[in-house]
Amino acid sequence: MLGVGHGYPKIQTKISVGVLIFGFFPIQLCPADLRMMRLFGLILLAILWAFASLQGATSHGDQPLSRIAIQKAVFALNDLAYVKASPPVLGLKDQNTEWVTIQYSIPNPSIDDWIGVFSPANFSASTCLPENPKATPPLLCTAPIKYQYANYTNPTFKDTGKGVLKLQLINQRSDFSFALFSGGLLNPKLLAVSNIVAFSNPNAPVYPRLAQGKTWNEMTVTWTSGYGINEAEPFVEWGPQGGEQKLSPAGTLTFDRSSMCGAPARTVGWRDPGFIHTSFLKELWPNSVYTYKLGHRLFNGTYIWSQNYQFRASPYPGQNSLQRVVIFGDMGKDEADGSNEYNNYQRGSLNTTKQLIRDLKNIDIVFHIGDICYANGYLSQWDQFTSQIEPIASTVPYMIASGNHERDWPGTGSFYGNMDSGGECGVLAENMFYVPAQNSAKFWYSTDYGMFRFCIAHTEHDWREGTEQYNFIEHCLASVDRQKQPWLIFLAHRVLGYSSSSFYVDEGSFAEPMGRDSLQKLWQKYKVDIAIYGHVHNYERTCPIYQNICTNEEKHYYKGTLNGTIHVVAGGGGASLAKFTTVQTKWSYFRDFDYGFVKLTAFDHSNLLFEYKKSSDGKVYDSFRISRDYRDILACTVDSCPSTTLAS
Ligand SMILES: [Fe+2]
Repeated sequence: MLGVGHGYPKIQTKISVGVLIFGFFPIQLCPADLRMMRLFGLILLAILWAFASLQGATSHGDQPLSRIAIQKAVFALNDLAYVKASPPVLGLKDQNTEWVTIQYSIPNPSIDDWIGVFSPANFSASTCLPENPKATPPLLCTAPIKYQYANYTNPTFKDTGKGVLKLQLINQRSDFSFALFSGGLLNPKLLAVSNIVAFSNPNAPVYPRLAQGKTWNEMTVTWTSGYGINEAEPFVEWGPQGGEQKLSPAGTLTFDRSSMCGAPARTVGWRDPGFIHTSFLKELWPNSVYTYKLGHRLFNGTYIWSQNYQFRASPYPGQNSLQRVVIFGDMGKDEADGSNEYNNYQRGSLNTTKQLIRDLKNIDIVFHIGDICYANGYLSQWDQFTSQIEPIASTVPYMIASGNHERDWPGTGSFYGNMDSGGECGVLAENMFYVPAQNSAKFWYSTDYGMFRFCIAHTEHDWREGTEQYNFIEHCLASVDRQKQPWLIFLAHRVLGYSSSSFYVDEGSFAEPMGRDSLQKLWQKYKVDIAIYGHVHNYERTCPIYQNICTNEEKHYYKGTLNGTIHVVAGGGGASLAKFTTVQTKWSYFRDFDYGFVKLTAFDHSNLLFEYKKSSDGKVYDSFRISRDYRDILACTVDSCPSTTLAS
């Protein structure tokens, strides 16, 4: 949903002091060498000032890192304060996630003292391109990748000033340092900087995400590494489980700061994305299990490998078999160590992830329909997100749609001119995940999974009649053979159908304004069974509906034709919940102000089960069934059949 505002305090722009950047210095805690510490303090202070200055542009209320209001930061290195991190080397057994222990001491402790995690640990003015030539000091540009309060898990901290914190780090192509601040998030004073912590191979290939290719028998694997095309050849070694393995090459993409459309993505939120590789595994045998691992052949002949993974190839379109689909929006990411705690993301996002992993044997494909990780221009968060979903995305196709928090930015062609993407303007979503779109920048696509046809719209581009997207949607809906693929599902991020969210009701539209004006005749004409949306962070299900009128009074067991489309909001993946209106409508059958996701199970061509599950316990809280024959799909409903002639 909309991410600007939310009542959080706006941060004022203020740069009052020029601070010189002295170039590169390694960060080491060394109480004896106060001079070095002061230099580092100056560097960090420069970052903080730059960070604060850029916060003034916009407040991205959904992003925890945007809460750090540091325009009042004071350089306050203190001989008696220290912060130490161990172990210094992570991933010695090739793990890409590991816990570190942070020990610290502060002479005058306070409950709002906090620790910021910086990566890269070593930073230099030379890495920082001035975003704005008028800005001084030169902008050295990294926001912390996470933060935690010093008294977290340390109830005696405010008396003793001493604490121990466990933080989880993921391998993301660079090293880490930990900076200790007093004064809270709003008046930070830098007290001490830690030693460096690093993974043994920061460049390792990590976080594979599967996606369906452009044809039913193709699976794509996308991953991230620190190896560019001048250092190594990326590939996937794969084959049938227990059978002969072969190599498929991968393409490599990356982008630079100038690809970002604005701050903070272009400034303090910028972090080198590394290299993103995609390999196309073709001519798969339907339903077969394949194993794979990611590889890089360095030009000196050395091979770098990921761990082993496996997936089941997708069914042939129309194939009659058990097919299970999970759909949700707006999950976001959160930190298992409790850092960045904000906006209830942790509970919702991690619970949803946990439930999907727990039930993974009973899930064939996942759709995350927009508002993916709410990085909002703090690019490091995309690594955290792909790490969080790795058990899911490495095993089943993880298909994404694009939402406002991926795409929207003024003057960049998005349908909405707000700043919800934090300057990413779609670049991260388009690069970090593969979708089988003709043009990934436009992001609408269709994909088939057995008896399902999915038409995925992109609400951040115009969908109205006469647009390129409208034509795509009609073609997607019209081109499916319903005898073979009876289950026709429309997916989009914003609610183009129906929602009782108070912010839509306040607009008087009970949906995105103009949402259904053009599209409802397509849903009706082509007999879309279910339309599912995110953006509104709750769950709601309508009756089968057309033009605001319920076309079927049944609530749980539909036999024969629906005569309309059932609209579902499944935006409770994890981000802070959205209130419902108290207004009652006839069409709103079930509402839940909680975190959850939707599961569709096709048993065969005639039987579909819809379930809504809460993320907290994975149990079903709403459900319905559809049972019908192909001839029911052919039946005419209101506005759904062309006029007949004698010849017909
Ligand atoms: Fe949204």
